[in-house]
Amino acid sequence: MSYQRVKGSYDIVPTSDEAWKESAFWHFIENHVHTLAKKYALEEIRPPVFEYTDLFLRSVGSETDIVSKEMYTFEDRGGRSLSLRPELTASILRAYIENGLQQTPSQRYYYLGSCFRYERSQKGRYRQFTQFDVEILGDKDPTVDVEVISCFLELLTNLGLEKYTLKINTLGDLISRKNYVTALKEYLETKKHLLSEDSQRRLVTNPMRILDSKEASDQALLQEAPSLREFLSRETLSHFQEVCNLLDSLGISYQIDEKLVRGLDYYIDTVFEVVASDDKGAQNALGGGGRYDGLLKQLGGPDLPGIGFGIGIERVMQALIAEGKAPLRESGPQFFIIPLSKEAKTAGFLLLQKYRKEGKSALLFNKNFQIKKGLQAAEAMHAQEAVILGEEELEKKVITIKNLRTRQERKESL
Ligand code: HAM
Repeated sequence: MSYQRVKGSYDIVPTSDEAWKESAFWHFIENHVHTLAKKYALEEIRPPVFEYTDLFLRSVGSETDIVSKEMYTFEDRGGRSLSLRPELTASILRAYIENGLQQTPSQRYYYLGSCFRYERSQKGRYRQFTQFDVEILGDKDPTVDVEVISCFLELLTNLGLEKYTLKINTLGDLISRKNYVTALKEYLETKKHLLSEDSQRRLVTNPMRILDSKEASDQALLQEAPSLREFLSRETLSHFQEVCNLLDSLGISYQIDEKLVRGLDYYIDTVFEVVASDDKGAQNALGGGGRYDGLLKQLGGPDLPGIGFGIGIERVMQALIAEGKAPLRESGPQFFIIPLSKEAKTAGFLLLQKYRKEGKSALLFNKNFQIKKGLQAAEAMHAQEAVILGEEELEKKVITIKNLRTRQERKESL
């Protein structure tokens, strides 16, 4: 009997024919994430992978696709409804409130961790995937919106990614949005029969989501629909204008996309998404985020604004590969010790310990005492240098070190 991993999940392994599944590539990403977080003075919050289901119902929204169709929800043995987190914002805010972090001077957080969504699995879409999430609380200033966006883009740039597009929009405050939804609903109700099946359902559950429908028939109907812009308050528009001005002054290019609504209920005002430019597929959002002023209060915390983003790490890695920017595979151990006799093996084993004590990476070949096989193994392990210990070396108390790139040899004292 053999077992397989759960559909929509994947293993990260030392070598794979898909580079994004290789552990060294993940280490590369993780190093960049933690370095960037330090630069932006972000502190880490690590929440558990599951929460009481209610948290996501209240924050992400019970009518969203994520919560209504994609959540891994189950009852534990105590009869409580728990869910694997489908995203990180809700958990980070819950942890912030529960741990009284509003008392601390900095309110800037990040986390790199797994999320779970029961989606149809395909390239770029997994049931367990990884997000780099950033949340900045307590600051309503437009500079923070731009700081968050530039942090997002800086990760992509630092990793070497070039082909992407930043899309931004503003959704307005809750009151203007409510008025807009009423008008949109009124308009679409009269043409309901022309809407796609999905959009007919959304007309009841979440009408704003119809705006980002990919169906041509829906898009045609939306041409004449009332525009969200007309419902926005002066504050919202001036906040958004300032965000655009600041992006301009930083030389960050962007597209304003009035159809960008995002699939989670908690957003107000600024929202944004970054898409990989050369990927025409539907799964090309590398990440997205926005403001969610009011959410903290709704979850029982202080009445503070918030803004953040989530980046899908697998998608970023795949975009890097598509651009030919995947990092080179890490090399193997620095020293690969090849003993050519039983006594040499003992000496080689002591040498192995000595190298490691000195902080050097090393491996000992102990399959046989044949130099050819030892060198083949060293090459296969991508070792940098082979350390040969034969009769002659033992007698003279030396080692022969062969550099496996340059092929040059040198002797050193044992
Ligand atoms: P989201 O747009 O739902 O936002 O997810 C962010 C990113 O996670 C997506 O753009 C995508 O790259 C990645 N992602 C989502 N689902 C999958 C999947 N099934 N497989 C692979 N990657 C996936 C949020 O989650 C918000 N919490 C972001 C945020 C933080 N907003 C404010 N703060």
